[in-house]
Amino acid sequence: MFRYHCLNPIAQVGLDEFTDRYAKTDNVNEADGILVRSAVMHDMEFAENLLAVARAGAGVNNIPLDVLAKKGVVVFNTPGANANGVKELVIAGMLLAARDIVGGINWVAENKENADIAKAAEKEKKKFAGTELQNKKLGIIGLGAIGVKVANAAKHLGMEVYGYDPYLSVDAAWNLSRDVKHVINVDEIYEKCDFITIHVPLLDSTKGMINQEAIAKMKDGVIILNLARDLLANEADVLEALKSGKIRKYVTDFPNPTTAGQPGCIVMPHIGASTEESEDNCAVMAVKEMMDYLENGNIRNSVNFPNCDMGICNQVSRIAIFHANIANMITKFTATFGDLGINVTDMVSKSKGENAYTMIDLDTATTPDMISKLTAIEGVYRVRKVK
Ligand code: MLT
Repeated sequence: MFRYHCLNPIAQVGLDEFTDRYAKTDNVNEADGILVRSAVMHDMEFAENLLAVARAGAGVNNIPLDVLAKKGVVVFNTPGANANGVKELVIAGMLLAARDIVGGINWVAENKENADIAKAAEKEKKKFAGTELQNKKLGIIGLGAIGVKVANAAKHLGMEVYGYDPYLSVDAAWNLSRDVKHVINVDEIYEKCDFITIHVPLLDSTKGMINQEAIAKMKDGVIILNLARDLLANEADVLEALKSGKIRKYVTDFPNPTTAGQPGCIVMPHIGASTEESEDNCAVMAVKEMMDYLENGNIRNSVNFPNCDMGICNQVSRIAIFHANIANMITKFTATFGDLGINVTDMVSKSKGENAYTMIDLDTATTPDMISKLTAIEGVYRVRKVK
């Protein structure tokens, strides 16, 4: 029996995926798997029995990935599962920024007692006028699942779309409209585009990328959309540029004391993926990833370990080893089995950054001696008996 704990509410349709081999626990310390959305896990202590964390969403900046990697805890996310929800909000954000729709709606509410409101509206409406999206240039930084969907939708709205992503995956390239202009220097986006939207993960290398220097290269009156993470922009620099008119509007899905209520900022309460469909998709994907890992040791869509899949184990036993991505590890594993006179029937080893994962099937049962010998090898973080 596996136990799972939900740190945040997770859509029921996802939890319904769990079979009778699973039980929910309210005690996080007895969980084999944790499901999480936005709860911040950086200060948490993790129990020895924890095997996996699955984030129902894309961003993982609320999870201590390295700490968990060194404990041999796999962290999953659900790339693409909420991409359509976020894409639709990006399109809405562009429309809200292009015309003062919110200002107009507020004006109507404020004037609701005016019997002559229709006449007054005709007089006032020029205050809320704006521009159209058609024929404007949209620059997309980051062409993952969300960026590609935004690019294709914007093409349908008649925009001229520029895309920048030095790590463009083959999948993304297949899905991207051929009319999107592929840019190899992000400056081209800064210099040419009327709208710029960011769809990259928050990393040390991307933190504060929209700063004074980048803004200086942009067109006057540019509209910036940030539905990825607030720290991707230096928002103090953004506010300065809003004051000077360099930036016309800043659309963000991450309210904080810097931008909330500031002129020129259209701030939403992190609702990009808050649709029934996105929440369901993320929950189902997160639960399925966690189940395949807990039951079979297979890893799909992890952010701290590589993808690795040996299907369902048909052999007597399966061992999973989490280790550093350094020389000689596989030789040491096979030598350990050789010394014990044990036959390895199948093995897959994959690496991701500084971490690696090796799955080994055996035609004999695992023993505590085997596990302790493997665990003692320098560079091994954890050895898990899967079957
Ligand atoms: C994501 O990271 O998937 C989105 O920001 C939505 C969310 O945090 O749930």
